[in-house]
Formats: sequence, C-alpha cells, structure tokens
Amino acid sequence: MRLETKRLLLRPFEENDAGDLYEYAKDSRVGPIAGWPVHTSLENSRKIICTVFAAPNVFAVVDKASGKVIGSAGFVGGYCPELPGPSDEIGYALSPAFWGRGLMPEAVEKLMEFGFEALGLNAIWCNHYNGNQKSKRVIEKCGFYYRFSKETEVTLMNERRLTHFYALTRREWEERRP
Ligand SMILES: CC(C)(COP(=O)(O)OP(=O)(O)OC[C@H]1O[C@@H](n2cnc3c(N)ncnc32)[C@H](O)[C@@H]1OP(=O)(O)O)[C@@H](O)C(=O)NCCC(=O)NCCS
Repeated sequence: MRLETKRLLLRPFEENDAGDLYEYAKDSRVGPIAGWPVHTSLENSRKIICTVFAAPNVFAVVDKASGKVIGSAGFVGGYCPELPGPSDEIGYALSPAFWGRGLMPEAVEKLMEFGFEALGLNAIWCNHYNGNQKSKRVIEKCGFYYRFSKETEVTLMNERRLTHFYALTRREWEERRP
C-alpha cells in the first residue's frame, strides 16, 4: 500500500532503508520522548525494520523531493476500550532535520483518511507523553479531541509516564470535512 500527499510518499519500509532510519533514530531527540530508545547501530535499525516496522499499515515517510526516508508513521495496533470499535492508534516520528514544516500533520491527515475510508475504522486515537509539546501540536492540528490522561507503562524505557489520550470518531471526522 502506498499513500501520497503533496510532499510525501508513505510506503512500506524496506530493509535497505536502514541507513536513512539510523541517521535520525540515533538522535536522542527522537525516540526517548516517544517511548523508545535511540538506535545503537545500523544493524539495530535494520532489525526494527524487520520486526516493528514490518507490521501492517506502518509506513516509511519518504520526502518526495529527495527520495529519502525521513520518518515513520502508521497504525500501531493499539486498542482503546473507551472508544467505539474498530479503532486503532496512530504513531509517528520524524527526522529533526525536517521538523517544523508541517510534514507530520500532512502525513497524519492522509493516514486518517486511509483509516476511516480504507480500513473501516470507527475511531482513531493517538497519545503523547506529558511534556511532548511537539507531538501535542501535531495532534491538535489534525483535529483530534482530548479524551483523558493516565499513567502508562513505557515498556521499552522501563518507566511510567503520564500519558494524554486524544481521539477522533468517524462521525467527528466526517462532520469537520469541508
Ligand atoms: C512530533 C513530530 C513528529 C512533529 O513533526 P513536524 O512535522 O515537525 O510537526 P510540525 O511541523 O507540525 O511542528 C509541530 C511542533 O513542533 C515544534 N517544532 C517545530 N520545529 C521545531 C524545531 N526545529 N525544534 C523544536 N521544536 C520544533 C513546534 O512547537 C511545532 O508547533 P507549531 O507549528 O505550533 O509551532 C516531531 O517533532 C518528532 O518526530 N518528534 C520526536 C518523536 C515524537 O515525539 N513522536 C511522537 C510520539 S507521541
């Protein structure tokens, strides 16, 4: 599956994207705030591509202008009992070299369309850890509504964090479409 926006191509990860992934995933500004440790080697990034990023509906975010993989975005298979099912969670990360251009909101808007129209979801949710202002802004810009906050286990970082949950139901999404 390939999705396209004005500036981005979203397509499945390939093993030889490991170099591009490692380039930004070794940066300590990216993973830890999202709940995963920095990548320690090219091999580490390759393994993540073959495991975590091999899941269905997880996409490499490709900058159309350069052909470079600059991030990841997709449905991470989360289940939220508080929302009308079927629902799924969107997760994302972007290379710091590309921050601040509205690229992730552009990718997430496309994923929402894909989730509601092609996957038949009734609700899409996302969350950010307390203090992750950048992710909060993406969520706000994409029109998600705040639902609740609770402490969650951040398994990969071996800690607990206050987590803020947001969601958009299909009806809310349809109502706010132009
Ligand atoms: C969250 C993230 C994907 C945002 O992507 P993006 O394409 O830069 O999103 P935007 O361009 O809409 O910018 C969002 C906010 O980031 C902040 N920001 C933008 N550029 C920045 C920069 N160079 N340095 C620091 N913060 C910056 C701004 O607060 C901006 O909000 P604003 O537009 O209201 O000013 C990106 O910051 C990232 O990958 N962060 C680390 C991983 C992460 O947190 N993932 C989400 C886990 S829940």
